[in-house]
Amino acid sequence: MEIQSDLKVTIRVNGVAVSAPVQAADSLLDFLRNQARATDVKCGCNQGDCGTCTVVYDGKAIKSCLVLAAQADGKEVRSLKGLMDDPLMQSLQNAFLECGAVQCGFCTPGMLMASWSLLQDNPNPTREEMRQGISGNLCRCTGYKKILDAISMAAALLSTEHPAGGYRAAGGYRAAGGYRAAGGYQAAAGYQVAANPADPRDRLDGQAQAKANYLLLGGG
Ligand code: FES
Ligand code: FES
Repeated sequence: MEIQSDLKVTIRVNGVAVSAPVQAADSLLDFLRNQARATDVKCGCNQGDCGTCTVVYDGKAIKSCLVLAAQADGKEVRSLKGLMDDPLMQSLQNAFLECGAVQCGFCTPGMLMASWSLLQDNPNPTREEMRQGISGNLCRCTGYKKILDAISMAAALLSTEHPAGGYRAAGGYRAAGGYRAAGGYQAAAGYQVAANPADPRDRLDGQAQAKANYLLLGGG
């Protein structure tokens, strides 16, 4: 949609500077979906209740429907799409699949972003801290237990790979050589079985990987 406005903003979205005119009342969510084409960022309620629009904004997870696009001028935003190569995010995605925490998938991008932010700040959260970490994100399908199980699984992998002082002490997950270099989640937790749709032991159907990728990216 072409916007006629004198107000122009530039926001770095997943590492790319996007400049576009906005209306004064446009939200960051509007900008991300309509101008930056970051359609992995979902609009559930548009009023701060559901968390489907969660992105990392200047290093913190926020609900993008609650921030004006004009406020975000000059800021850095990352959506799930921008974290697809991030080892911690990959670990979470695999754990979500393994635990059955992806059902309809609509909440999944926001839930993954909230979970990622939680584990960035606290690699070894208690169950209660996990609940608090995703308390701003609603899921109508899973009943939350599977999501909490998935976060636990990803956190357990972190502590297995970085037992002495956690992954922050090791210089961060990425600085530690990355999870691929370390053998990754697949080797550590046997996820490879579930990740390979051609494998007859796969617990999902032959379209599992394609469907999973679609859902984990938010499905367009
Ligand atoms: S769309 Fe932003 S919290 Fe629901
Ligand atoms: S998986 Fe459907 S809303 Fe969470």
